[in-house]
Amino acid sequence: MFKGRSLIEPDDFTIEELEELLLLTKKIREDREKFSESCRKRILAALFFEPSTRTRLSFEAAMLRLGGSCLGFADPSSSSAAKGESLADTIRVVSSYADIAVIRSPKEGAALLAKQYSSIPIINAGDGGHYHPTQTLTDLATIKQFYGSFEGITAGFCGDLKFGRTVHSLAKILTRYKKVKIIFISPKELGVPAYIKDILNKRNIQYSETACLEEVMGELDILYMTRVQRERFLNEEEYLRLKDTYILTPEKMKAAKPTMIVLHPLPRLNEIDVEVDADPRAVYFKQAEYGMYVRMALLALLLDAV
Ligand code: NCD
Repeated sequence: MFKGRSLIEPDDFTIEELEELLLLTKKIREDREKFSESCRKRILAALFFEPSTRTRLSFEAAMLRLGGSCLGFADPSSSSAAKGESLADTIRVVSSYADIAVIRSPKEGAALLAKQYSSIPIINAGDGGHYHPTQTLTDLATIKQFYGSFEGITAGFCGDLKFGRTVHSLAKILTRYKKVKIIFISPKELGVPAYIKDILNKRNIQYSETACLEEVMGELDILYMTRVQRERFLNEEEYLRLKDTYILTPEKMKAAKPTMIVLHPLPRLNEIDVEVDADPRAVYFKQAEYGMYVRMALLALLLDAV
């Protein structure tokens, strides 16, 4: 039962619930028209305290394609947060205007706090460098479609693993599938946080860390590239030094398995050469498209509209 629940972090849904959600995603993708009135008269509030293109637009497109409506803001300077209103007060009020709310904030724990003050379901669309569970649902839908399974995969995460909330969320969810192996590829300064390693250790997941992408390329089934998260650095020089550590090129792709797929939550900066886009293993634009279908499925389930 999804009705009335919130999605704050990757562990909020069971494996069976994830399967149900991915199945509905596929059904919606195959016959969008059939669901075009599912959320009629329902309202989504999109509260974005941090920049976004895909996440916000795909949530809004999802609600509109389900026959519902959207309200909210894309820029906190146009909301009462700019006057100093607390998130708790904002969400109390929004709860009486909308049926479900999606929140992105630069502050870790913001969505969880919002849930405590809300009478409607809250969806976390990214809380600082912490988690981004709907991107993870998108990643799972893409892996399922283009790779076929989660069990037994070797997943390489490359880039900014310290601040990359999409990495933290996907790594955490992958621990729940059998025989998954994770390889973290980053410079030491951008290594995965200790709390994620603690989770992997507790769940007996095999993982390793390296700074060299070329060294592990041939082992990977999934390569998850990420952007170096400039906005979370305290020191601009450090960002400039690290931003181009990894650049995926057609040359490097030659060492990868023919079945490996490349994911990226986007936006992409320099970390994937545009020439890689033509490689059939590069599925990141499909991944962005799937984001809308996953969010349609999620909204419909939480609103008990299917
Ligand atoms: C990601 C995010 O916001 O964390 N983007 C997204 O939602 N697709 C990744 C990023 O900004 O680098």
